[in-house]
Amino acid sequence: MSNITVWFIRCAMIYFVVAILLGLHMSWVGYAGYPYIQIHTHFNLLGWMSMMIFGVAYHILPRFSGRPLWSDKLALVQLYLANIGLIGMAAGWVILSGNGSKGFHIVFSLVEAVSIVLFVINMFLTIKAAPPMPQKPAPDKK
Ligand code: HEM
Ligand code: HEM
Repeated sequence: MSNITVWFIRCAMIYFVVAILLGLHMSWVGYAGYPYIQIHTHFNLLGWMSMMIFGVAYHILPRFSGRPLWSDKLALVQLYLANIGLIGMAAGWVILSGNGSKGFHIVFSLVEAVSIVLFVINMFLTIKAAPPMPQKPAPDKK
């Protein structure tokens, strides 16, 4: 596996643990409100699930397509932006719940959105239909 894949999967697992701890905290305390639900939701869906998909996709889709990833550099930039964006979004929800200011959250939401677009571009330029599998010769009839 490439470093990108390993780091996306490591990050995904860390977000999963944090998201689950937040979920347990909400169940335990009995308060499931702002900003806990939002952080729990997005650590689960953008952190755990999306980052696991990014990591596995960077490994497997070039192999399925029979050609290398279009850009390793773009994938590295995406790894940084996805993490900066998600942590910033979480901090933004905390700020929003404190003083109602949206700016911080919007900036990091855009960073997260850019990271997703970079992934999509890299994959569009990588994936290609693989040539058909060679047919097995028909068994000899006696
Ligand atoms: C130990 C595991 C988990 C616990 C204890 C937990 C707990 C919670 C709690 C207490 C809420 C707030 C519910 C409410 O009062 O509205 C919530 C919301 C939510 N959880 Fe989890 N959760 C867990 C795992 C997950 C996972 C694995 C996912 C997704 C992959 C997930 C996705 C969501 C979403 C999307 C919401 C928001 C739903 C809404 O908008 O009302 N949760 N969770
Ligand atoms: C750049 C990426 C994303 C941004 C900026 C974003 C932003 C937001 C915002 C602002 C809300 C409303 C929060 C509130 O005020 O209650 C929200 C809710 C929600 N989002 Fe996202 N989101 C993103 C990606 C995703 C993805 C990829 C998923 C699912 C795979 C998702 C699932 C949800 C769900 C289930 C809710 C409703 C539950 C909640 O309030 O947390 N989001 N999102």
